[in-house]
Amino acid sequence: MKHIDAVSHTRGESQYVDDMPQPSEMLFAAVFSSPVMHGKIMALHVQDACSMDGIVAVLTSKDIPGENQIGPIIQDEELLASAEVCYVGQPVALVIGTSPEIARKGVRKITLDIEQLPAITDPKEAFSKGNIIGSPRTFILGDVEAAWKKCDLVLEGVCDIGGQEHVYLETQRARAIPLEENNLCIYSATQGPSAVQRHAAKVLGLPAHNIEVDVKRLGGGFGGKEDQATPWACMAALAAWHTKKPVELVLGRADDIKMTGKRHPYKSDFKIGVTKEGKILAYEASHYQNSGATADLSPAVLERTLFHGTNSYFIPNVKIFGVCCRTNLPSNTAFRGFGAPQGMFVIESAIAKVAEKLGIPREAIQTKNLLKENDLFPYGQRVRNCRSLLTWNKAVEKYKLSEIRKRAENYNKTHFEIKKGIAVMPICFGISFTTTYMNQASALVHVYTDGSVSVSTGGVEMGQGLKSNIASIAAKGFGIRDTRIKIESTNTTRVANMSPSAASATTVLNGNAALIAIGQVLDRLKSMVAKELGVQEKGRITVVNEKVLCDGRETDWTWDRLVQTAHLNRIDLSAHGFFATPEIYFDKIKEKGHPFAYHIFGTAIIEVTLDCLRGAYDIDSVKIVHDLGRPLSELVDRGQIEGGLAQGLGWMTIEDLSFNEKGQLLSGALATYKVPDVYFMPDDIELTFLEDEGNTLGPYGNKAVGEPPFMYGIGVFFAIRCAMRAFRPQKEFALASPLTPERVLLQLYAE
Ligand code: MTE
Ligand code: HPA
Ligand code: MOS
Repeated sequence: MKHIDAVSHTRGESQYVDDMPQPSEMLFAAVFSSPVMHGKIMALHVQDACSMDGIVAVLTSKDIPGENQIGPIIQDEELLASAEVCYVGQPVALVIGTSPEIARKGVRKITLDIEQLPAITDPKEAFSKGNIIGSPRTFILGDVEAAWKKCDLVLEGVCDIGGQEHVYLETQRARAIPLEENNLCIYSATQGPSAVQRHAAKVLGLPAHNIEVDVKRLGGGFGGKEDQATPWACMAALAAWHTKKPVELVLGRADDIKMTGKRHPYKSDFKIGVTKEGKILAYEASHYQNSGATADLSPAVLERTLFHGTNSYFIPNVKIFGVCCRTNLPSNTAFRGFGAPQGMFVIESAIAKVAEKLGIPREAIQTKNLLKENDLFPYGQRVRNCRSLLTWNKAVEKYKLSEIRKRAENYNKTHFEIKKGIAVMPICFGISFTTTYMNQASALVHVYTDGSVSVSTGGVEMGQGLKSNIASIAAKGFGIRDTRIKIESTNTTRVANMSPSAASATTVLNGNAALIAIGQVLDRLKSMVAKELGVQEKGRITVVNEKVLCDGRETDWTWDRLVQTAHLNRIDLSAHGFFATPEIYFDKIKEKGHPFAYHIFGTAIIEVTLDCLRGAYDIDSVKIVHDLGRPLSELVDRGQIEGGLAQGLGWMTIEDLSFNEKGQLLSGALATYKVPDVYFMPDDIELTFLEDEGNTLGPYGNKAVGEPPFMYGIGVFFAIRCAMRAFRPQKEFALASPLTPERVLLQLYAE
């Protein structure tokens, strides 16, 4: 099956929030935000804006009828700043006008008197001043202190890891429609419709059932709309509540980049100890997460950094410390990988240091330490269905790593200013929300009397192909054509209390919920037909290709007849299904448990060519062996792997967030913030899939695929570094990302 939206996307016919026909009298909101990093609000002057033609209202924190609070984990985030601002771009006032242009003009008429306060942008500085969010966390396995003495080589190092802007094509937006009796419908571009519902209700002082949130699809989320779609939806709702008119709020690209959070930059220290055979005996890391101004999802992101702090390796003695550091930057948030990429970058960096010291390729260390069946993660879970070595060996053999290496060595011998570099990047990513209770989902299924089917779930289509997956599951589940299935918008009145679509688990959770609902309807239909056929057990009845079979043999019953007869017999053709991932738990006091349903494994080989006179590089090839399970739609999953890889490559190389000392983002436009394009991507991307018979949890053997491939991109950093070392073998290079061509050049010629 192709991606269900492929045709309508290509034709530009897919509808997003602001493509729906505009209701008459719709108003438009724009946001006035803090011009400074940190300060006390002394006075806010809105009169000039209010008196403009076409301006309907200017709303501030004083106009919030309920609670001015939208923090998802910790209550530390105001919708509109009341007394203090903590970053450039923090929303302070909402201007409502008769057109988007007028509203934006109104914003420019607002002024703010501010008493500036000292600001912090560095996480280690924030930590040293006690500016932290929540409590630090430490995962421990074995005894590192005792282990250092047994190591033949112990090395220390520091990493400085950059952030990343989401660059979803569709910027943040929402449209709120007032309905009768204090009810509101919000069309929001969110990964978390229930979070929007909960917070809009809180802000307006209404019960949740007064707020209906509807999501048709997103033009990309990538984690940036897991939680940070909420403020804009709440603002649209607030404006609609005050004006009693429909109100739309769409952030322009510049406002979006300025006002929203990004992937967390980290500063991390590590210490690693190995035997002379290259076995890692001990590893210690301290992660200082640059959380930005509020908690947002930072504590959960940090937790995943710790979970994935040893990537695909078994290390008997581990101590990983992490802390969320509060800084005066927009609050950083979920982004594909959710903290895991930072944790993995640091262990891969530590391995690079060791390999460089010993004068051997990184692979020599990596292979000796890959996870094996039943090995223990520092968080207490044992590896099951481990495919670390399997994907590694398959990649090395199939893509002939030794030949790639030999070719590169020969090339480097004969070329002075152009060097090739190679890296191998294994991944191991845990599937499940790390916050256990979030691993639940519901679905609502209706069969209409003409045999067509409507499926609602709590999952949001954001481009990842959820609708295609659910349609395929529903068609398989009922035994009918996929053209019979319609996937509805995601709506809080049809499915309540949704977890956000995130953690790569949307198909697993919502697909299973849909299958449970489908099973209920099908059971009723089978009981009915068994009776009609005079058969005792309904288990002998199956539906295949729209035909009803008994003991595998055709009967004269079809799907159409089945459905129509059931209706005439007053049999319920609708069902609600609920699924919760079994057997997962985590004890945050002991920092031990079984947080993941399963892990995804894979190995990538990355080859680059570096122009050592200019610092410019080309990524020649990325060759992957990936643990895909049984895809519901292989094309969709290939898209996920290539898209995730592209984002990972960009994060490590050209995506450079640069703030000045005033906290203003210098790369705040797509002209200065570069993302990978088709030319940047390697011409040669090869994908090989492991077939997995063993994933009993995924619907029809399906495995999560959304986030893991992002982390293959980490390899490019070490491939470029490998080429840099071929040119300057004696030099020490920083473990700092992104490794832009400019940074490469500066480091090659540092003296
Ligand atoms: N793919 C597209 N096209 N657009 C997106 O926004 N988000 C990614 C990934 N792939 C995203 C995407 C992220 S961050 C996650 S967690 C998963 O998709 C979410 O969807 P899933 O749970 O269905 O995999
Ligand atoms: N991934 C994404 N979002 C989350 C998670 C996670 O693991 N845990 C809590 N929110
Ligand atoms: Mo994805 S970062 O879990 O939305």
